[in-house]
Amino acid sequence: MTQNREKWGSKFGFILAAAGSAVGLGNIWKFPYIAGENGGAAFIFVYLICIGIIGFPVLIAEVLIGRTTQRNPVGAFAALTPSKMWLSVGFLGVLAGFMILSFYSVIGGWTIGYVIETLRGSLSNFHSPEEAGVLFGVLSGSATWTLGYHTIFFAMTMFIVVRGVQGGIEKSSKIMMPILLSILVILMIRGMTLPGADKGLAFLLVPDWAKINGQSILIALGHAFFTLSLGMGAMMTYGSYMSKKDSVITASAQIVFLDTLIAIMAGVAIFTAVFASGLDPAAGPGLIFQTLPAVFAGMTGGVYFSFLFFLLLAIAALTSAISLLEVVVAYFVDEKGWNRKGAVMIFGGSIYLLGIPSALSFNLMSDVTLFGKTFFDIVDFIASNVLLPFGGLMIAIFAGWVWSRTSVMTAVKEGAEDLFEAYPWFEGVWFLFLRFVAPVLITLVLLNSLGIM
Ligand code: PHE
Repeated sequence: MTQNREKWGSKFGFILAAAGSAVGLGNIWKFPYIAGENGGAAFIFVYLICIGIIGFPVLIAEVLIGRTTQRNPVGAFAALTPSKMWLSVGFLGVLAGFMILSFYSVIGGWTIGYVIETLRGSLSNFHSPEEAGVLFGVLSGSATWTLGYHTIFFAMTMFIVVRGVQGGIEKSSKIMMPILLSILVILMIRGMTLPGADKGLAFLLVPDWAKINGQSILIALGHAFFTLSLGMGAMMTYGSYMSKKDSVITASAQIVFLDTLIAIMAGVAIFTAVFASGLDPAAGPGLIFQTLPAVFAGMTGGVYFSFLFFLLLAIAALTSAISLLEVVVAYFVDEKGWNRKGAVMIFGGSIYLLGIPSALSFNLMSDVTLFGKTFFDIVDFIASNVLLPFGGLMIAIFAGWVWSRTSVMTAVKEGAEDLFEAYPWFEGVWFLFLRFVAPVLITLVLLNSLGIM
């Protein structure tokens, strides 16, 4: 089976696909609003540190495990250790992929819905975020609207993944990622040239340290996982199609760079516009769907920017969704001998069904709650706040302590000989982070999520 397993066509194709996985709703929807709620520049500073000391080292480990074994997360652990416990870590990753995709597709659907609403002209007449909020309530409150767009978004995800690693994921990323970057550049320039944009830039550049506390640090740490698609085997799966001639370290650095750059660019595009309109930067999750439409409505040519913005979000969401589906598909293809088409139809179909109660959590099922959380909130919480940090912790421990250091070093040096010759200290620093810094900090995040701390 290994001989004819699929591969990326080029290193560049892999980087774009992996950056496509990393850059998603996390960067453009979540990052700006959590930065807005937690003090802007000071939060961004803490976030950058988290990415550097946790995100980057764990990303290298994850891609490396995939590349070395050329397997999905379950098969990858099976290839490296006889211990059954690690198989369950891989399995939890597949489960997390299943869960995240189910609700991610609901929000992905909203982004497509907002592209269409912009084109229909429904977003052009707001005078305040309250009015935009009312429309948002009406749309997300409609079961037909949320389910319909969940269906469309999911169908697009399946359409790409069924075409395979090179012909589907890589090819579509090569088209979508450059479009994403270009749109972002346009929106950023538009934001920075608005009168009053300097207040938005100041918000992003001048730190307010008083806003930083234990809680905001944990939010930054948790987000570092989500934004880099870590802890559930997405990067492992994408790494498993990577050639041993290429450097895992350089590739990981490029992925981290693109992900961070795009989050910050999204922050600039959004906050310059929000401040220029005198609106509230700490509007929370509604920042994108309620505050921004009001900003666009008040801007000359706002419809075009609104169209571009929601298209940007939809593309970002789609390139992440395909990586989530690919984890599940790769597992059934590698381990259970399914063909790609069958796996996409059956398991994609099941994930779609699991997404239905999430889509209904904003309307028909909004009263069905457990501990005050809707179905959507519960799936999101378990997957993003428990399974991802747990998976990340396990990956750090595995690469740092379980997989022998000699084997790790032999594997990581493939394609990266020169790098380790030029920077001999890299090995020690990487292991220090994998063995101690990451496990300790991730454990804190987990305990906090579980309400123990
Ligand atoms: N990284 C994606 C985002 O920022 C989300 C994601 C998480 C994708 C885990 C794949 C795996 O939106």
